[in-house]
Amino acid sequence: MSKLLLIDDEEDVRYSFERIFNSPDIELATASSGEEGLKVIPKFKPDLVLMDVRMTGMTGLETLRRIRAADPKLLVILMTAYGTTQTAIEAMKLGAYDYLLKPFDAPKLKEIIGNALKAARDMKQVVSYQPLLESEDYELGIVGRSEPMQRVFKLIGQVAGTDATALVTGESGTGKELVARAIYHHSNRAQQPFLAVNCAAIPEQLLESELFGHEKGSFTGATTQRIGKFEQCNKGTIFLDEIGDMTPATQTKILRVLQSGTFERVGGNLPIHVDVRVIAATNKPLEAAVAARQFREDLFYRLNVVRIHIAPLRDRRDDIPLLVNYFLKKLAQEAAQQPKAIMPHVIKALEKYHWPGNVRELENIIRRAHVMAKGDAILLSDLPSEISGQGGTAASPPVAAAAGEAAATDAAAIARQLFQWARRDPKLKIIPAVERELVVQALKETGDNQIQAAKLLGITRATLRKRIEKFGIQRELNVK
Ligand SMILES: Nc1ncnc2c1ncn2[C@@H]1O[C@H](COP(=O)(O)OP(=O)(O)OP(=O)(O)O)[C@@H](O)[C@H]1O
Ligand SMILES: [Mg+2]
Repeated sequence: MSKLLLIDDEEDVRYSFERIFNSPDIELATASSGEEGLKVIPKFKPDLVLMDVRMTGMTGLETLRRIRAADPKLLVILMTAYGTTQTAIEAMKLGAYDYLLKPFDAPKLKEIIGNALKAARDMKQVVSYQPLLESEDYELGIVGRSEPMQRVFKLIGQVAGTDATALVTGESGTGKELVARAIYHHSNRAQQPFLAVNCAAIPEQLLESELFGHEKGSFTGATTQRIGKFEQCNKGTIFLDEIGDMTPATQTKILRVLQSGTFERVGGNLPIHVDVRVIAATNKPLEAAVAARQFREDLFYRLNVVRIHIAPLRDRRDDIPLLVNYFLKKLAQEAAQQPKAIMPHVIKALEKYHWPGNVRELENIIRRAHVMAKGDAILLSDLPSEISGQGGTAASPPVAAAAGEAAATDAAAIARQLFQWARRDPKLKIIPAVERELVVQALKETGDNQIQAAKLLGITRATLRKRIEKFGIQRELNVK
């Protein structure tokens, strides 16, 4: 649950927020003045503050200054009516996270608040990089015990306490962002903001302005002045993700910030000085981009001061069992349940797969299996066929044989659970009860197609008919 504090002297605004954010995920508190807001913050401990710029009593700017002095990591979004954007810009310079123009529509408001809450969570949630081995409690961390991951942990430890620029490389889904966040959390700047910019997700022409801001009228569409991420993140850490996707102009500007801490806003000529630590990441081979003259060589060397390379998951398979258990614990915690068990042969199948999507793919597959699993354990049949080797026609004979063996193990696991159920309820006639349910399920899934249903159940159509009669299963018999 996220906590939102709204500071606005207009009752109507407070009322409409209470209506919009009447949700179980968000706890909303309101204050009607800057003074009151400052008193509420230490008690309520909001994740995000939304504040009007123009208020009677203490001004929004003064309130913001005090909030920032007390907690530089608390994100503040300012709200301003059209015509007072200049004040909003002033406020951005004081470290506001973003600003919204009134009147705003609810979906846009929710989107901006959702993004800010995510940034706030990322800033707060400490990423541990100590090898999490048999730790009982779930804790957000970088999991791994393989040689390559041990090297990564060592490098994080060495670089975190310095202000050096770090370049994190590795295929997609290997954990580059997680490493960047671990560096930040263990750095001297951990009490200052952390902002992530995905350079590939922002259109080329807009990236420069996103990072460095722009002056009013500097290009079509630049109707107001804008403060960029480097200015917003002063004293903090900026994470430049997918750094390989930048125009030459942006590369030149980044190089200058790294060398001298100065830049100009797009369309401006006033040099602005900032103190920002840069952590960059890429999944593209930057050396090749340098050779092809798409990426500045001098910028590459400047970024590459400390290089942390994360090996693909297929080259460190001994991390797989640990990661699987870690994700199961995480899912259990999300659902407030006991973690599901996983059989050794299922882990074996996961270890054999080549994981083109790396740890992200593994996490998604475990998440899916967790949803699919009906009982307390994840079975081979809860995994996609390319991993389990079950189902589909693509499986080669040895794989199919292994799948048969695995299916028997799955059946044993299910039978164990059913048997426990039978034990608990002596009146239950387990075999007919389960048999009946299986027939009903098969007919449902096949739309009453008896031939297919019989095939799925591994019995003949005649046997299926007998069961339908015996159990008195009444369905729309649409015989095919
Ligand atoms: N060693 C690890 N331990 C625990 N979780 C991990 C580990 N590596 C990656 N993850 C998880 O996998 C997912 C992908 O990680 P992350 O976003 O850091 O990858 P990335 O390298 O930045 O990928 P991309 O290049 O696609 O942006 C995240 O949910 C992250 O928490
Ligand atoms: Mg990433």
